[in-house]
Amino acid sequence: MFTCWSAVSDNFRKMKIISLVLMLGVHLPLVTAIFTVTAPRLSYTASYGNNITVECRFPVESNFNSNQIKLYWHHILSDGSSQLVYKLFNGKPALQDQSQEYSERVFMLLDELRSGRAVLEISRVRVSDAGTYRCVIDLNGVDYKETALEVTASYGEIKTIKTKERKETELICQSMGYPLAEVVWYYANGSDINETANTTHFTGTNGLYNIRSVLRIKEETNDNYLCMFWIKEFKMNTSAILQNKEMEETEEKIDELLSTNRSYLIAAIAIPVTVLLGVIIIVSILLKSGRYRQVVMDPMIAPAEMECEPP
Ligand SMILES: *[C@@H]1O[C@H](CO)[C@@H](O)[C@H](O)[C@H]1NC(C)=O
Ligand SMILES: *[C@@H]1O[C@H](CO)[C@@H](O)[C@H](O)[C@H]1NC(C)=O
Ligand SMILES: *[C@@H]1O[C@H](CO)[C@@H](O)[C@H](O)[C@H]1NC(C)=O
Ligand SMILES: *[C@@H]1O[C@H](CO)[C@@H](O)[C@H](O)[C@H]1NC(C)=O
Ligand SMILES: *[C@@H]1O[C@H](CO)[C@@H](O)[C@H](O)[C@H]1NC(C)=O
Repeated sequence: MFTCWSAVSDNFRKMKIISLVLMLGVHLPLVTAIFTVTAPRLSYTASYGNNITVECRFPVESNFNSNQIKLYWHHILSDGSSQLVYKLFNGKPALQDQSQEYSERVFMLLDELRSGRAVLEISRVRVSDAGTYRCVIDLNGVDYKETALEVTASYGEIKTIKTKERKETELICQSMGYPLAEVVWYYANGSDINETANTTHFTGTNGLYNIRSVLRIKEETNDNYLCMFWIKEFKMNTSAILQNKEMEETEEKIDELLSTNRSYLIAAIAIPVTVLLGVIIIVSILLKSGRYRQVVMDPMIAPAEMECEPP
């Protein structure tokens, strides 16, 4: 009786274990299948100096508690090494091991976690921020995704210099940006120029390219020219026009301005001087007539005064 009961109990226990294994067997792949991190965008393009947010998404259950999440954002460098950009440990920022590059420059929008969004904001984007970003999320399982960040800086401010030496004209366009641009020269009307410019560049400490393009024109010319900085990958063009005629015109205008200024100056000196002279003449006439009157009116002092005066 006792052994019999034991056998039944044993069978019962076996069945329980089997059903548990079956349950787990069904459940385990389901759990890993559910916890999948996704990247809504494969790449982002940031403008140098601006802010950008990059994002990963993950599934959250109704009982989600942000204190359970561990999250890492890494910047994968081109040599395969990685830098820690941001870390959440049990829902709290843990930035002791954060790369100096990102110190005080990256934030996570913690309120978005409950919506299953791991949003990283990078501010004052640098050229060195370009590359691959990997988010690793440890919640009901561990998964990661990667997304790319590209950085552009338009060649916005083009400095132009034009120098004329006898018949040769030298035109220079210079600007900073990223990535490397080609410099193309045209006539201002868009026609091609049969001259090759000497374009050189160096990299500044901020990672931007500083490009300088010099076009020399041998024969005497009054044409206007255009230099265009062209970033092929991003189809970004910026250009500046170097105007030949207008520069001379403005020089003439400056001359004109100076000469009108000169006549103002002459007027400014001449008018008060004339007025002053007039006043002196009038005053001396009045004085003289007054004295004569005095001489006539006061005969007592008249002889003495007459004595004093030269003949
Ligand atoms: C960029 O981020 C910084 C720091 O969070 C903030 O002060 C600034 O206003 C942001 N700029 C823009 C254009 O959103
Ligand atoms: C553009 O200007 C250049 C130089 O002045 C001239 O040679 C060329 O014919 C012009 N092209 C057009 C389409 O007007
Ligand atoms: C461009 O210049 C070269 C020599 O400097 C000349 O042989 C060629 O014919 C020119 N092409 C045009 C289209 O003017
Ligand atoms: C182009 O300019 C650079 C720097 O000014 C100079 O070293 C180089 O010799 C120039 N090249 C040509 C072909 O003129
Ligand atoms: C930019 O410049 C390049 C080279 O001249 C030209 O092929 C391209 O069409 C230009 N794109 C725009 C948007 O102006």
